[in-house]
Amino acid sequence: MRVMVVGGGGREHALVWKLAQSSEVGEIFCVPGNAGIASLAECVPIRADDLENILLFAQEKKIHLTVVGPEAPLAGGIVDLFQEKNQLIFGPTQKGALLEGSKSWAKRFMARHNIPTAAFEVFHGLKEALSYLQAAAYPLVVKADGLAAGKGVLIASDYEEAGEFVRAIMEDKIFGAAGEKIIVEEFMSGEEVSVFAVTDGYTYFTLPSVQDHKAIYEGDRGPNTGGMGAYSPAPVLTGALLKRVCKEIFDPVFGGLREEGITYRGVLYGGLMITPEGEPKVLEFNVRFGDPEAQVLFPGQRTDLFPLLYEAARGDLRSLWPPDWEEGATVCVVLASQGYPGSYETGKEIRGLEKAREQQGAMVFHSGTSFQDHKIVTAGGRVLGVTAWQADLKSALAGAYKLAAEIDFEGKYYRRDIAHRAL
Ligand code: AMP
Ligand code: GLY
Repeated sequence: MRVMVVGGGGREHALVWKLAQSSEVGEIFCVPGNAGIASLAECVPIRADDLENILLFAQEKKIHLTVVGPEAPLAGGIVDLFQEKNQLIFGPTQKGALLEGSKSWAKRFMARHNIPTAAFEVFHGLKEALSYLQAAAYPLVVKADGLAAGKGVLIASDYEEAGEFVRAIMEDKIFGAAGEKIIVEEFMSGEEVSVFAVTDGYTYFTLPSVQDHKAIYEGDRGPNTGGMGAYSPAPVLTGALLKRVCKEIFDPVFGGLREEGITYRGVLYGGLMITPEGEPKVLEFNVRFGDPEAQVLFPGQRTDLFPLLYEAARGDLRSLWPPDWEEGATVCVVLASQGYPGSYETGKEIRGLEKAREQQGAMVFHSGTSFQDHKIVTAGGRVLGVTAWQADLKSALAGAYKLAAEIDFEGKYYRRDIAHRAL
């Protein structure tokens, strides 16, 4: 089988790496890929948002399955485009992608189908939003409606903070059209966990739980990033709780989507809050694998990833046994460029990458890297996802942090407290 992966970050490197281990997969292409992916797949310089050219390439190379990594091409309708031309693709259609692309759509969908989530209000205008916020009780949460690369959310402790953020979104338009509407939400306390379900719209399989670390600084302080590290499984999600998550969240989501004429094929990422009362509630949905969550999901997967994605895309997931994972734990520590999630420099030579090959149960997934004068250099805010998997969490952590120290580039920054909650 010829497979194409769309995207060029750590998530896509993890997808390509796992797919390359499949006995069913021959050639792999990646658009656009990165310096790490290039050792496993043919990287093709087409941008991940250049949907027409991605389709042309898939047709020309007679690709059997295309797997979409990031949200933007999904929200842009890449799946609809491929389906019109009978090109098999893993991911939801543009309508299904609204679960991530429009928070107001997602919240109203959850309300229609009684899916547990924070109480909310939607505002289209600055004036009405401000007058609501002036009378509201704090803390509360303000969100831009559309895609904002993880930066569109503020937990506000008073009116001053909330008002400033809403003005920035609606007056200064810091997120462009993604800020035409805003959501104001009840603040929920508790512990966060991410649960992924791969589905053909009818049958679904959940993958092991993951906890992500979104904040840039240790102790979960500072601005949010795309994710500074992750580990799996997350002990907060017990077997009993997973049963509730399926019954109260995934069943009504996929059933509700079908009722509304949307057959969701792909992976649904449930970002959940486990409240102090032990109730699972939805913080957000994403319509793709997480990054860095993908880096901690695939290493321990005992079963082949290819048929899972292929049958989900074809609509025949029930022909498969549920996927299976090794006992043990996986940890990913993200090495970032100094300054991220603000501005940062690129083009710094990365040294020590060969260290991962000497370590059992370890892999360095590339997020933002490229080639320059035959050397691998930094090319993004998140540079590498240093990942280790072992029989227990402590050993996996030791493995990941050993590599994080050995690999070096100017301005390397990483959090030293990944997985602290599980310890
Ligand atoms: P989102 O992109 O909607 O997942 O929000 C990003 C982060 O903001 C989440 O991972 C949570 O840490 C936090 N957050 C979002 N909504 C809420 C909420 N209603 N209550 C508490 N924290 C929230
Ligand atoms: N790591 C968070 C995300 O992928 O959305």
